[in-house]
Amino acid sequence: MDRVEIAVLGYGTVGSGVVEVLNTNQEIINRRAGKDIHVKYVLDLRDFPGDPIQEKVVHQMDPILEDPDVKVVVEVMGGVEPSYSYVKKALLAGKSVATSNKELVARHGAELLKIAGENRVNFFYEASVGGGIPVIRPMFSCLTAEDIDEVSGILNGTTNYILSKMTFEGADFESVLKEAQEKGYAERNPEADVEGYDAGRKIAILSSMVCEKQVDFESVYMEGITKITREDILYAGKLNRAIKLLARSRMQDGVMYAMVAPFLVENDHPLYSVNGVFNAIFVHGNMLGDAMFYGKGAGKLPTASAVVADVVDAVKHLGINIRIRWSQEKMQVGEIKDFACRFLVRIPEDCLKKAQEAFGQTETVDAGVPGEIGLITGVMREEDFAEAAAKLPVINRIRLNG
Ligand code: HSE
Repeated sequence: MDRVEIAVLGYGTVGSGVVEVLNTNQEIINRRAGKDIHVKYVLDLRDFPGDPIQEKVVHQMDPILEDPDVKVVVEVMGGVEPSYSYVKKALLAGKSVATSNKELVARHGAELLKIAGENRVNFFYEASVGGGIPVIRPMFSCLTAEDIDEVSGILNGTTNYILSKMTFEGADFESVLKEAQEKGYAERNPEADVEGYDAGRKIAILSSMVCEKQVDFESVYMEGITKITREDILYAGKLNRAIKLLARSRMQDGVMYAMVAPFLVENDHPLYSVNGVFNAIFVHGNMLGDAMFYGKGAGKLPTASAVVADVVDAVKHLGINIRIRWSQEKMQVGEIKDFACRFLVRIPEDCLKKAQEAFGQTETVDAGVPGEIGLITGVMREEDFAEAAAKLPVINRIRLNG
């Protein structure tokens, strides 16, 4: 069997996972790739004395770029720089790239795909969204006959874990966040998880793939879970719903809205039962109807497995670019003020009459929280809701899914 050399940029959690996956499933992987995949270089700032890869460690990118035997570069360093520069140089040097780096893909995916096409190599990023869950390849391959009008995902394991614990154990936000950090689920900076930025990058990537244009991370409306309280969870239970942080790309009246926000998900929706650190991506297509992809959205080996699958695909297609349509043209995303949905709004009990006047058609929900009442509004534009809510001492409000 011919040998093909690869380089791994970054020997952190995912990088060491890539080496582990390649070693553990070596025979299967090589058989499927039709080549003996061999790690020639590991780029990292650190040395790893005693680790079997120690002999392969380099501290500069140049030896990798200059080595014609290296056909695939795995980028698992994270962050935009120097990842972007290294990946771009690798593609220009005729090497395919497999990455798990959502920040890089969300910001520069379209450009890197173009460069890959021009150089007859591949830029693959299956692990950048949903970790080990196959979703990127289904989007550009298996679902290619579909007109997709909705992608709604639970794309952040940390926040889903926190919300699940709050739901099932009545725990409060701060204590569960601390536990999630101790277990290593949360990002180094938990703000990226709890404020929805991590999910925002992932839905920017999926939205771009749906419309084949650039949906900037900055144009995704993002609201996290820091304001969700135990009382909100009581209301969700009363409504037979669960609060989920949904990352969503949805067509409404011909406009694409891309957002991350907590939603009250009804108990017959497939996303309702996605709990703990699991992720799921719900897709609706005009021919297919509903489909859902479910599994481990993070973690060393699930993420590394998806990266290695990209390496195998790249090895199987040396010299052939697999076209993924995602142009650099900016997509005009709808403004959140025009997005329409129903809301749960919690208000002091003595404001009920005024609230009913302000929100129009409503139904009430009593979750047994002393001194307050909940209202479910009809479908309202965000702007109209905000205008009505400004007249009242609103305790909290959460959007309803459906
Ligand atoms: N912090 C992320 C999560 C890791 O919780 O899902 C995977 O991107």
